[in-house]
Amino acid sequence: MVIAPGKKVVFSDEVLQNPYPTYARLHGEGPLHYLDVGSKWAVWSIFSHAECASIAKDPRLSAKRAQQMLLPLPISRQSEFSELARMLGLWLIFMDAPEHTRLRKLLNKGFSAAAIEGLRPQVEAIVDRMLKPLQHGSEVELMRQFANPMPVRIISEMLGIPQELHDTFVNWSRAIALFRGSPDRTVEQARAAQDALIELTEFFRKTVAERRRNKGNDLISLLIDIEEEGEVMTEEELYAQCIALLFAGHETTRNLIGNGVYTLLQHPQETAELREKPEMIRTAVEEILRYESPVQFTARVLKEDIEVCGQRIPKKWSILCMLGAANRDPKKFKEPNQLNLKRLNNEHLAFSAGPHFCIGAQLARVEGQVALLNLVQRFPEMKLTGPRPEWASTFGFRGLKSLPVVM
Ligand code: HEM
Repeated sequence: MVIAPGKKVVFSDEVLQNPYPTYARLHGEGPLHYLDVGSKWAVWSIFSHAECASIAKDPRLSAKRAQQMLLPLPISRQSEFSELARMLGLWLIFMDAPEHTRLRKLLNKGFSAAAIEGLRPQVEAIVDRMLKPLQHGSEVELMRQFANPMPVRIISEMLGIPQELHDTFVNWSRAIALFRGSPDRTVEQARAAQDALIELTEFFRKTVAERRRNKGNDLISLLIDIEEEGEVMTEEELYAQCIALLFAGHETTRNLIGNGVYTLLQHPQETAELREKPEMIRTAVEEILRYESPVQFTARVLKEDIEVCGQRIPKKWSILCMLGAANRDPKKFKEPNQLNLKRLNNEHLAFSAGPHFCIGAQLARVEGQVALLNLVQRFPEMKLTGPRPEWASTFGFRGLKSLPVVM
């Protein structure tokens, strides 16, 4: 029998604006907590770095959790969203071995270190094109004018998708992020996410058919090759990976850039040093990933009863790995609440760990390095304007609603 001690509140709008004092208090109380998710729900959640890393690698837990995402919805409404759970269930991130292993091995080809380093000049060119029109001293909403569109542009170029569709993609992607990133999901969020997935599948059905006739060097052509080579992927799974890459390639990296600029503007001394020593950008980006992690949690479902941090948790229950909290674990990081752009051996979990370790990590790093260094160097006078920026209410994907600055 499971003992469920008092539930704790983390997923509230108030905590979301600054979760770190709550994380610090809960770290002091132990590595595992039973967190309140709305009125009816609670979920076991791991805060410690060591346990999060080991759970992410543990084969007794499953990444197949698309169906579980519907559980916070009223039981009478869940059946309306079976298509949503089915479509999400086709994404690589929600697969288990051996299907996951096979597909991941093939997809790795498109994300090898060499392939991504080869993209650096393209990233530099896109960043240059987007920053050039921004005038010194002008007021800019940096999320809207730079952080949001920049990663969409990159991943769309990798997929070979026309630029005029970017705004539509951003809207669809937002709808999916709101559903995925809110532990207390609503029927309205599920509806918007399902509609977005249906539209995206339709879009990729047409795009894949065209690309089959005219293959190139892009990721969709690589996925088509994988699908044609063997029995690894069905046609529908192919569309699902395109959608997943478009979503993951944009929804997280925008927040690395937004969170990065905001963090740097709040730490002018450290930023001045980075401006002086651009070679610091690699450790700086790792530290920003640790300090303001764009993905705050991931989830797994238990395939069998297991004991986690001394607590027996039954089969089929979900468990959250609180990556953002693990990245502030005082048992792992010296002065975890201090920003240290030169931090060495920064083994953060911003990209998770184990078989689902982010396939796009290297691409995100390159994008973050190029974008943040260019901003810091070209706009040394950049400052926040207006009231304190607010964090968007998707707890899972941590990012700012807007970031008004004077350049
Ligand atoms: C700062 C940017 C990014 C962050 C913080 C991030 C974070 C993550 C995390 C935490 C996971 C694993 C979740 C889990 O264990 O359940 C993941 C997986 C994944 N990410 Fe990223 N990501 C970023 C950028 C990207 C980019 C640029 C792409 C692709 C273009 C991408 C594609 C993926 C895919 C396909 C997976 C699933 C991998 C698998 O299941 O094998 N991500 N990401």
